[in-house]
Parts: sequence; C-alpha cells; structure tokens
Amino acid sequence: MEVKKILVTGGLGFIGSHTVVELQQSGFEVLIIDNLSNTRIEVLDQITSITGIRPHFFQIDLRDKAQVSAFFEMNKVDGIIHFAAYKAVGESVQEPLAYYENNIGCLVYILQEMKQKGLDCFIFSSSCTVYGQADELPITENAPNKPAESPYGNTKQIGEEIIKESCSAYDLNAIALRYFNPIGAHPTAKIGELPLGIPQNLIPFITQTAAGIRKELSVFGNDYPTPDGTAIRDYIHVVDLAKAHIAALERLLDRRNKENFEYFNIGTGTGSSVLEVIKSFEKVSNQKLNYKIVDRREGDVISAYADTTLANAELQWKTEKSLEEALSSAWAWQLKQ
Ligand code: WQD
Repeated sequence: MEVKKILVTGGLGFIGSHTVVELQQSGFEVLIIDNLSNTRIEVLDQITSITGIRPHFFQIDLRDKAQVSAFFEMNKVDGIIHFAAYKAVGESVQEPLAYYENNIGCLVYILQEMKQKGLDCFIFSSSCTVYGQADELPITENAPNKPAESPYGNTKQIGEEIIKESCSAYDLNAIALRYFNPIGAHPTAKIGELPLGIPQNLIPFITQTAAGIRKELSVFGNDYPTPDGTAIRDYIHVVDLAKAHIAALERLLDRRNKENFEYFNIGTGTGSSVLEVIKSFEKVSNQKLNYKIVDRREGDVISAYADTTLANAELQWKTEKSLEEALSSAWAWQLKQ
C-alpha cells in the first residue's frame, strides 16, 4: 500500500516535533515546514535519532505566499497538520497585528493551496482558550465559545471559523484539536519544550527553577475559589497529545468523519491546581521547589479541564500517561539542557 505523505507545519516546535515522531512511527512519510522562529534546527537531528528516519525539511516562512505555493507545486501530500503559529498569550496583547498576520494569514494561504490542489485532509492546532472561563466543568465541546481573552485566543477562534466555512464552501475535511495544557517531553529526553527566553508557561518555569536557572517560581494567585486557592488546569503529556493527532488524521484518511468540520477537546479530563503540580513535581524530582505566592496574572481563568468523552469515543483515543510521568519527563529533559 502506498505510504501516505503528511505535511507538518511548525514540525520542529514542541508539539509538532512529538507529533512528527509519532507519525513516522505510525508509518507515515513526513514533510516539515518550519521558519525556525521559535525552535532550533537541532530538533530535526533529534527526531531522526529517535526514529531513524530523517523527515524532509523545508525552511519556509508561511507568511510568504509565493514560497507556500512553490512548496505545493513541488510536493504532493495526503494530509496537513498545521501547528505553525505564535502562541504566547501575553505577547499577543503587545503585538496583535503580528499574531493576526502569522496565525490567520498563514492559515488562509494553506487553505487556499488545499482548495487549488484538491487536498481535503486538515488537522488544526486549536486551544481550550476558545472557551474562556467556561460556566460548567468539565468543559464539553458544546460549551459556548466566550469572547477571547487575548488576540492569541482570538486567532484560534477565528481560525476555527475560517476552517469551518472553507470546509463547507470547498468540500474540505478538517478536525480542530482543542488542546488543554501540553507538558512534558519525549521519554528519550531528546525532544521537549524549548522556551526561548523567560518561560511563560508553568512547567518550564518550574523545571528551570529546580535546575537553578530561575531563582524562584511566582505562583500567580492563591485567592481563587478553588480547594487550595490556586488556579486549576488540565495538564496533558505531550506524547498523549501527539497520539491524538494520529487518531484524528486516520479518522479523516479513512473517511470516518461525520461532518466536514469536527472539533475535539484533547486533555486528561482531570484538573490539577498549581500547588498540586508543585507538590507532584517535588515528589518526582525529590527536591523542594522555591516558590512564592504573588498576585493573579491578568487574563487567567480560574479553572479549565476537559470532558474528553467525545474524543475518547470518536477518535478511539485517551490519555495514557499520568501527571507524574509528564512532570518526570519534563525534569529529565531539563537536566539534559
Ligand atoms: C498554567 C497555570 C498560571 C506560570 C496557556 C495558553 C494556552 C496554552 C497553554 C497554547 C495558570 C500558573 C504559570 C507561572 C504560575 N498555550 N502559572 N506561575 O495560561 O493555562 O495556558 O498555555 O496553546 O492557550 O493560554 O498555561 O502554563 O501559562 O499557566 O502560577 O510562572 O500556572 O496562573 O494558573 P495557561 P500556563
């Protein structure tokens, strides 16, 4: 049977690289487009050393429409997984136009090529930020989208709308995966989260504090209406998240999708507070973490964790790794930096 070729944009990024590994290990041929704006080229060697197969790599900036068209002239693919986007919530408030140009502009260019080339299998990297602070927990897919709390979150909401309308207008098939909080690293510790600069997200800040790179962790608020006062999130191991992309891709390739455009919550279904994460990290790393409580961070929601019933049933996918395994893999990765 002919090997299916999958384009992965942003394939050298945190979630992209873990997905490329799973794609290769599932028998797909992978083509990566990445402009290296938020990663390092060494990730390509690391992927190759894990799987023994070097992905085809194209250093292309998707904002360059001519380069995007040239790529699709030269390369026939059977499916696309689109990760390439800016993703820092705080930065998006400072630079909204950069976020709309990159996150929306590139999406439009890719969809235009799909329409022209008759491609119809598209997986979109979305986010639980589309829900804002949901009224009901756990969050199901039919929870109403709330006004985005940031330009970043808005690009995910608008992105899903663009895809939905394109699917019906041009008969495309697409699945949006709404990630909760991806954390951890590959069990080989050869790939992981590579925050360039001061980490915005909790787990890399924790591991860098434990490694002595940061002086102490600031816990953003302990006066939330939660059991221990700190905010709650659904932390999912990045390898479990990567596997969800394979499940979604195979659903589209096998034509098992029930709608042109589908979306699924990808989380563990369990919420963990910041203090619970700290305690769990201290256990797996066998060391005390230096932290202090400070004021809440602007734009944070109180609590967000997924109802994963739909993804479990329709994608035949569920998380297999625990929070401790995820934190332990993040720590092993940090120790190799
Ligand atoms: C988690 C919790 C913070 C840092 C963001 C994006 C989301 C997705 C994941 C891309 C919160 C607390 C954090 C710190 C802290 N990204 N925290 N001290 O904000 O839930 O989600 O990243 O798709 O779209 O919005 O993740 O890791 O920043 O924060 O106390 O130094 O940790 O307040 O409660 P978040 P996070």
